[in-house]
Amino acid sequence: MMALSMDDKRSVPRHIAIIMDGNGRWAKNKGLPRTAGHKAGGETFRRIANYCRDIGVKYLTVYAFSTENWKRSEEEVGGIMLLLERYLTEALRDMEKNGVCFRFFGDLSRLRPKLRKLCEDAEARSSQYHDVQVNFCLNYGGRDEIIRAARAFAADVAAGKRSADSLTEADFDNYLDSAGVPDPELVIRPSGEMRTSNFLPWQSAYSEFVFMNVLWPDFMPEHLDEAIEEYHRRERRFGGA
Ligand code: IPE
Ligand code: IPE
Ligand code: MG
Repeated sequence: MMALSMDDKRSVPRHIAIIMDGNGRWAKNKGLPRTAGHKAGGETFRRIANYCRDIGVKYLTVYAFSTENWKRSEEEVGGIMLLLERYLTEALRDMEKNGVCFRFFGDLSRLRPKLRKLCEDAEARSSQYHDVQVNFCLNYGGRDEIIRAARAFAADVAAGKRSADSLTEADFDNYLDSAGVPDPELVIRPSGEMRTSNFLPWQSAYSEFVFMNVLWPDFMPEHLDEAIEEYHRRERRFGGA
């Protein structure tokens, strides 16, 4: 059931970003291992990505694994990587049916070769689809992204392609993983935590944040509707009077 009216559908944010948090607590509440929470979180992601496509969201950016998440146990990290591999294998198989274009934000060089190859294949083979673009943040950290962009710019300066003082905000955008993607209007964090945990610090400078008290595996299309409604109640001023 879609709760949004036709009018709302036309005015959904073009770009929604989500910190998919709360998988571990969901599992703990049920007496299950943390990996069961990540599996359930994966199902939620499928549901929400389809819903975003259906209501006309053009870009969905999801935080799947942060540069800090390597601190977790080998078992948990391995479980998450395996789920990602399974998901991408399926996505490659069902590409035509889903119409999703995939991009990956983050430093993929630290991923195991099999997963990295799946990411590269998914990105290359889905570039022709335009129903919705899903940006997966994988081994992503906002500070790491900015450092990698600064290094790439410095390399262009060293190679004589750019002059150091020519850099503008719009140029710098093009050195980020999100090059070419408009900034998210709305950032949602379920799980009750009220922090951004290194997610899109550059891109979310003027985003509206909605923090919700639901764990990611329990997140339903209705929660997305609720976040969009909250977004519509906000007055965006961008520093103006
Ligand atoms: C988010 O859920 C998924 C990842 C960070 C990979 P968590 O695993 O952080 O769940 P909580 O916060 O412990 O409940
Ligand atoms: C942020 O959640 C990362 C992802 C959802 C992938 P965390 O659970 O890692 O963040 P903290 O530790 O609560 O800040
Ligand atoms: Mg968490």
